[in-house]
Amino acid sequence: MKWIESEDGSFTAFSTQYGEHYHSTKDGALNESLKKHIEPAFAIHSDKNHLKIIDICFGLGLNTLATLYYRDTYFPNTTLEIFSPELNGELVASLVRFPYPDIFKSYLPVIASLTECGVYEDVKTKITVVIADARLAMQELSGVWDVCYQDAFSPSANPLLWTREYFADVARLVGNEGIMTTYSIALAIRMGLHENGFNVYLNAGEGYRSATVASVRLLCEFEKIDVEHKMKCNPGTTSLCDVDYIALSV
Ligand SMILES: C[S@@+](CC[C@H](N)C(=O)[O-])C[C@H]1O[C@@H](n2cnc3c(N)ncnc32)[C@H](O)[C@@H]1O
Repeated sequence: MKWIESEDGSFTAFSTQYGEHYHSTKDGALNESLKKHIEPAFAIHSDKNHLKIIDICFGLGLNTLATLYYRDTYFPNTTLEIFSPELNGELVASLVRFPYPDIFKSYLPVIASLTECGVYEDVKTKITVVIADARLAMQELSGVWDVCYQDAFSPSANPLLWTREYFADVARLVGNEGIMTTYSIALAIRMGLHENGFNVYLNAGEGYRSATVASVRLLCEFEKIDVEHKMKCNPGTTSLCDVDYIALSV
């Protein structure tokens, strides 16, 4: 595994299997994580003192560690429960050597515990990393979750983590009050969310490429995307569907 320095100075990696970087090298790995996932999640749920977060998928653990950092810095009284599936056990085991940003120094014991036994727990935090297929893990997961960070490799590289059937599981788990965050702004992906009852919102700002927030409830702080209108303008676009990819993956 080759570590690569991204635009903001934080490190990411390149997957030869998927032909993609784990994070946007242009937006910066840490910056992308904060702007596209962590900041909107905490802003939308700023009234809550306990957050349950699904992190799809664990990868280098940047989203999970950035969540701890952001909580400790801005919401120190919020308790966290994080669940994160990851297919690549070898990758997780290697993370004790990953060059994390200095601001994550105090979380190195967290990474050590996760690589050793898949669990980290203290009075304010519970993290579970399972080495498993996220599709199955999501089907088996129960409860009501506040946030799902949807940060799989791209829809073209890893389509089964972007289908309408997969989003049905995300919708079941986040319910009416939870949100999903993702870097994807593709219409096909937004259609899959729309078909599952989500409102789709633009997450745009300085210093990062636009992203998406999805939620069943209305979010007045984000610009709503008129998915129906975009569908009419792009009649050839469809959401991704399991049957088109399952045969290819076996
Ligand atoms: C873009 S990376 C995730 C980056 C991660 N969120 C971070 O902040 O470091 C995508 C991850 O999905 C994992 N993956 C791919 N398909 C999977 C599946 N079906 N189930 C679980 N993990 C999967 C890959 O091994 C990879 O680590």
